[in-house]
Amino acid sequence: MDVKDAIQKRRAYRSLTPFKIKKKFVDDLAECAQITASCFNNQPWQYVFVYEKNKLEKMHEGLSSGNEWAHKASMIIVVLGKKDDDCVIYDRVYYRFDIGMATEAMILRATELGYVAHPIAGYSPKKTRKILCIPDDLDVIALVIVGKHSNKINPVMSEKQIADEAKRPERKSIKDFVFHNKYGGK
Ligand SMILES: Cc1cc2nc3c(=O)[nH]c(=O)nc-3n(C[C@H](O)[C@H](O)[C@H](O)COP(=O)(O)O)c2cc1C
Repeated sequence: MDVKDAIQKRRAYRSLTPFKIKKKFVDDLAECAQITASCFNNQPWQYVFVYEKNKLEKMHEGLSSGNEWAHKASMIIVVLGKKDDDCVIYDRVYYRFDIGMATEAMILRATELGYVAHPIAGYSPKKTRKILCIPDDLDVIALVIVGKHSNKINPVMSEKQIADEAKRPERKSIKDFVFHNKYGGK
């Protein structure tokens, strides 16, 4: 198994070059979501895979400022779900957890296949909903920008984005979020 390899290779790259989206690729990603674990096997995730040229261009209207790099996406995966489709155990609401896991499975698979799959929160759910006819009772949880990584820096990127392209942004030290046998302490 090479899971760690995919985890390490995954990057939120922003310099993208187009590639042709084939149905086989979409099906492959969907299969990865399909077999993900979920509370009571509720499988609360729903996705719209947007790759038709006109629709993709329309999706640009819903992107927030700073995400212009995503205009080069070959596909945008719209991550959808709702609370009622998964476990709610007292105050523990699981749909976003399960949908996040299914989406990460797709992101890692896309990485393994040599593509970039970059999740973003910078978009208008309202505009996305309108463009894709998404019902009001579904949350538009995230978009995943899919493309092929380009070594040529996209000129719309900010200085920070260019720096992040070259080097993975700093992470917290493991000791700051991992505890052994008891919360807190050293
Ligand atoms: C929920 C979520 C929302 C994000 N939103 C954006 C975004 O709107 N625009 C963007 O350029 N990157 C976005 N990112 C990417 C992060 O900035 C990126 O993952 C982080 O800087 C770490 O870089 P790395 O993934 O290459 O290790 C988002 C990532 C996640 C998981």
